[in-house]
Amino acid sequence: METKNKKFYITTPIYYPSGKWHIGTCYTTIICDAIARYKRMQGYDVFYLTGTDEHGQKILKVSQEAGVPVKEYIDGVVNELKRLWKILDISYDKFIRTTDKEHEEAVAKIFEKLYKQGDIYKSSYEGWYCTPCESFWTKSQLVDGKCPDCGREVQLTQEESYFFKMSKYQDRIIKLIQDNPDFLQPQTRQNEMINNFLKPGLQDLCVSRTSFDWGIKVPFDPKHVVYVWIDALTNYITALGYGSDNDELFKKFWPADIHMVGKEIVRFHSIIWPAILMALGLEMPKKVYGHGWLLFGEDKMSKSKGNIVDPFILTDRYGVDALRYYLLREVSFGQDGSYTNETFLKRINSDLCNDLGNLVSRVTAMVTQYFNGVIPSSQEKEAIDEELIELNNTLRDKVDQCMDSLHIPEALENIWRVIQRANKYIDETTPWILAKDESKRARLASVMYNLCESIRIISIFLQPYLTKTPEKIFAKLGIQDESLKTLDSAKFGKMEAGLKVEKGDALFQRLDMNKEIEAMNKIAEEEKAKALKENKKATEDNVVKIPEIGIDEFEKIQLKVGKVIECQKVEKADKLLCSKVDLGEGKLRTIVSGIAKYYSPEEMVGKQVVVVANLKPVKLRGILSEGMLLCASDKDGNLSLVSPITTMPAGSEIR
Ligand code: ME8
Repeated sequence: METKNKKFYITTPIYYPSGKWHIGTCYTTIICDAIARYKRMQGYDVFYLTGTDEHGQKILKVSQEAGVPVKEYIDGVVNELKRLWKILDISYDKFIRTTDKEHEEAVAKIFEKLYKQGDIYKSSYEGWYCTPCESFWTKSQLVDGKCPDCGREVQLTQEESYFFKMSKYQDRIIKLIQDNPDFLQPQTRQNEMINNFLKPGLQDLCVSRTSFDWGIKVPFDPKHVVYVWIDALTNYITALGYGSDNDELFKKFWPADIHMVGKEIVRFHSIIWPAILMALGLEMPKKVYGHGWLLFGEDKMSKSKGNIVDPFILTDRYGVDALRYYLLREVSFGQDGSYTNETFLKRINSDLCNDLGNLVSRVTAMVTQYFNGVIPSSQEKEAIDEELIELNNTLRDKVDQCMDSLHIPEALENIWRVIQRANKYIDETTPWILAKDESKRARLASVMYNLCESIRIISIFLQPYLTKTPEKIFAKLGIQDESLKTLDSAKFGKMEAGLKVEKGDALFQRLDMNKEIEAMNKIAEEEKAKALKENKKATEDNVVKIPEIGIDEFEKIQLKVGKVIECQKVEKADKLLCSKVDLGEGKLRTIVSGIAKYYSPEEMVGKQVVVVANLKPVKLRGILSEGMLLCASDKDGNLSLVSPITTMPAGSEIR
């Protein structure tokens, strides 16, 4: 195959630095790794990108709860993720972080360019705001109409925002998906996108926020930070230097050959990302592939569900190759798949230990016993040999085809067919009987050569999927010459006789299923208990872990005594009262508060209250609220207004 100057660019999504890694999280990365490794073997110049998605309110909040400065917090989690990728032998070419200076600068430029050319405009965003969490939610994100994070009431609120003109690109995106069946795969995702999102009509997209500041500042309006889309999705081009002084990699590798993503983020990659690229006048990625989820029974994974899903534990106990093999082979690619300890252990025992491990140990043992460990040459051919040779020689085409069409488990199935055929060949040729008859020496030699050569070819093809075992097998066969490990050398007969075999240890230990399941359940229980303990500790820590502040920080908050002069209910908002409060400023302040459940407008009038006087005004239900009334809140969220014990003049400072 002519692969000179052929390039291949593959990406995983950038991961949220949540720190909650389970084997589902490793799925996208291992899949991409196998594809990248195979492409490299095919002679492609490969660029494999992964990284982390580090901005936004959620991660800021998590770091605040941990009492650690946000960047420091994320650095710790990212190091742990990189350690995991190292254990799993992920051969990425670049790990991008959205807090990288180059990325931040390029995003600011992209945002400004889109604004200048009219693809981004300023308007206001209406969403459901949870005051304690300081979070905006869309209606569909609410759970029973309440904040999905803390379960408390939310208010319909407006915020000034920048918008990206997605609607302008709707028809071009429909055409992109319909005219290029390869662009979005598997095919079911095309119908989903067109019928559920594109045909009903695209809304312009809110691409900035002012309610938090952990993000890339909009260069011409720095009270805004870039929100999610333009920051996260553009990593695929900024990682190649787009928008920087050195865009050599971008020129070489863009457009991406595959954006591999989980099915829940297909919409962002097949609609929003193409729209951004269209606005930037850039080429479309060649393929977005939305794979399924790895489930636990019916659920998405979680460490507290009583099954070992911790990749650190699984790889430590069973090895990296066992986990890589399981994920690549067991899940029908493109669909959801369920993890169980039983199916995992069965794959190790039947495929890795019985099929592959046994083949290698039987053959190396026989070469040791019958030929003093030296691989003999083939001296004659029978029909049964031709069949095995043919199966080896056609493997390249089959695996190429499977990998090009992203039928990854099927690629492994084809390799296993050769492994199983080779095992059967041993049973059919019965070398132990041939060995008893000196006149069958030439036949025995041919059988041994054919088996060793099959094992070499199988190991060549295993390299993208299993990263440790193929090298061990090559070592057992005495193969040091790198050219005998390449795809081009996967032709029967390329290995010359005479190499010295080393039987050594078994490749995989046979596991006692019952014992192992018992042990796994025990580990899972311990993990579950540990997770519970950690959760409890985190909750306890939260009580004391709110970071200390100096007096200078406290002095930034202006608290004043106010007197409620008027109060009324806010229309169509059961929870809200709108008060006019005298702060001794010569004019009354309007303050909206979520206290209607606890106070009637009538009993509010005349009350002395404590007001956060220098809080940035915010529109709540179309009313500009110019401060906040302080309340005490119990653990169930019941509120009681705070008031000075004796009457104080309106406007008195609270210190
Ligand atoms: O989505 N099974 O990041 P993320 C299979 N930052 N795949 C799973 C999985 C499971 N149980 N759990 C997670 C994000 N994944 C965004 C992406 S891209 C510009 C921004 C996969 O950390 C998930 O589908 O939530 C996704 O492909 C990847 O892990 C990262 O998910």
